[in-house]
Amino acid sequence: MLAIDDVTMRVGALTILDSVTLAIAAGTCVGIAGPSGSGKTTLLHVAGMLMRPTRGSVTWRGSAPRDPVGWRRNNAGFVFQDFCLVPELSALANVVLPRRFSAFGTGDAAPRGVRLLAQMGITHPHRRAGVLSRGEQQRVAIARAVLDSPAVILADEPTASLDTATGRQITHLLIDAARRSGAALMVVSHDADLLAAMDAVHTLRAGRLA
Ligand SMILES: Nc1ncnc2c1ncn2[C@@H]1O[C@H](COP(=O)(O)OP(=O)(O)OP(=O)(O)O)[C@@H](O)[C@H]1O
Ligand SMILES: [Mg+2]
Repeated sequence: MLAIDDVTMRVGALTILDSVTLAIAAGTCVGIAGPSGSGKTTLLHVAGMLMRPTRGSVTWRGSAPRDPVGWRRNNAGFVFQDFCLVPELSALANVVLPRRFSAFGTGDAAPRGVRLLAQMGITHPHRRAGVLSRGEQQRVAIARAVLDSPAVILADEPTASLDTATGRQITHLLIDAARRSGAALMVVSHDADLLAAMDAVHTLRAGRLA
């Protein structure tokens, strides 16, 4: 269970998140909707322990990890809203890059990476990420996030750059990946099809959960 308990995030006088409480059990898929600027990305980053909240706590299996960097490396897969790929590296190299820093070891992840990319319709894994279309980059970012079947998958508008058909396919792939490994999946989205496939959907408005 990933538990966000009474989290408030302030930057100066601005309150970005206001007393947000939300729990995501292992094996469940939770959607976060809400207008632009309502705090969705901030909530996802707090949930993934990329940011410490001003107040409140984020716990995984009942406790707050003492080493958030290590926790992320070994438990979390992120799909960033702006992908955060390394443009000079190939699609495949991006997908397997986290392995270099991970407790899963440096075992050969390439075949699985190639397979995952192919499932997503990326059949040219050696092309540089920097020259891929946005929709292709988005799929590379998703493949990177699910490569090691992390216990927590956090995805920020993962279908925003995809056409409807590809978006549907990717949605199912994300959900399948989460279900197969019993992961807690948290997805920020405006995509009605994607949100309809979640077990629960919460809406953020001006930093508060409705
Ligand atoms: N470090 C920061 N300093 C100041 N303001 C910030 C900071 N981070 C986020 N904000 C503000 O907090 C609000 C929420 O930002 P956030 O990126 O979480 O929104 P969002 O719901 O993901 O929006 P979108 O749908 O456009 O991606 C915005 O008004 C943003 O300008
Ligand atoms: Mg956002």
